Amino acid sequence: MAAFSIHRDTLSLFLFIFLANPTFSLPSQTLIGNPNFDPQVVLFGDAKPANGDSHVVLTSPDDSSSGLIVLKDPFKFMEGNLTKGVSFSTEFLFSISAGNGDGLAFVVVPYDFPSRFVGQGSFGLLGENRFLGIEFDTKIDGNVGDLNANHVGVDVDTLESLWIKNISSLNLVLNNGETLKCWIDYDSSSKRLEVRLSRSGDKRPYKPILAYHIDLLEMWGGEDVLVGIVSTNGDSLQSTSVYSWRFRLRKVSSWMHSLPANPHDYVNTDGEDPGVHKRSFCALTILAGVIFATGCGALVAFVGLFMWAIFVSRHTVFPVEYQKGSTDFRYEKIKVTVEDTEGDKN
Ligand SMILES: *[C@@H]1O[C@H](CO)[C@@H](O)[C@H](O)[C@H]1NC(C)=O
Ligand SMILES: *[C@@H]1O[C@H](CO)[C@@H](O)[C@H](O)[C@H]1NC(C)=O
Repeated sequence: MAAFSIHRDTLSLFLFIFLANPTFSLPSQTLIGNPNFDPQVVLFGDAKPANGDSHVVLTSPDDSSSGLIVLKDPFKFMEGNLTKGVSFSTEFLFSISAGNGDGLAFVVVPYDFPSRFVGQGSFGLLGENRFLGIEFDTKIDGNVGDLNANHVGVDVDTLESLWIKNISSLNLVLNNGETLKCWIDYDSSSKRLEVRLSRSGDKRPYKPILAYHIDLLEMWGGEDVLVGIVSTNGDSLQSTSVYSWRFRLRKVSSWMHSLPANPHDYVNTDGEDPGVHKRSFCALTILAGVIFATGCGALVAFVGLFMWAIFVSRHTVFPVEYQKGSTDFRYEKIKVTVEDTEGDKN
């Protein structure tokens, strides 16, 4: 009897750990002590720290090498009452060696993606049907309409890029081993995704290489998602490395930057019924005018009373002795100062 209950407890404990955090059930490695990475980075597949943890090598020049790093903690685009969802900003430094492998991609994936990450190619995204990928692609894949072997593409739920940028036109080469820096920003208010790319050490470019409208709140809703950087070398001799990675969520409550005087104004800002909006605006203007006029009247009355107090009641109310006393006091003070000065000289 006792043995059975222990066994059952152990089983439920295992079940609890597994269900609560499927990622932990996989062999994974964390990167400890490198300040260029968020402390929550977890490594999967062939991803491993190199040169004494100074950077992460995602893929090695072996057959079908694949590596993934993710931030351990999932998040939701729909956070409680934040009606506009959360925004994010991320930046990372990477390099891709020569060869026509798949390159590297920043991905937003379902929480259980790492448990399926077997890395047979195509960033492990083949067969996945829900993902956002920003790919730094160094191979022409005719199946998915690739432009050339040097492009950045945005993939949504399919490897056929929705938006593509020819990187050659920026005088950059993804796979010459040079360290490049990438910034990806998503703003949940404007639903705008921006991708920037430059050589390592260059300033953040003003102009994004890709900027598009996408509603990640609508895409993911309240689902738990993970963010990661993934690389698969597609049987080439290509090797990819990541030297730093930062990821920040911005949770801006919509009420913080749009406090409407009349809640109906807020509802109507999408322009469904501009008439109602205009009418309530007129009513508000009149109300504001009345309040302003009342305030002005009160101010004029106050100033009038004040003047009367000074010019009319001054001679009758204030005692003459007071002024005299004040003069005496000033005289006393000057005397003290003179004495002090003489004291300094001695
Ligand atoms: C939104 O939720 C947070 C935490 O749940 C709460 O502190 C805040 O008051 C809420 N804001 C509004 C406008 O309901
Ligand atoms: C990419 O840009 C380069 C340089 O501007 C150009 O030579 C090449 O034809 C472009 N490739 C495509 C597919 O547009």
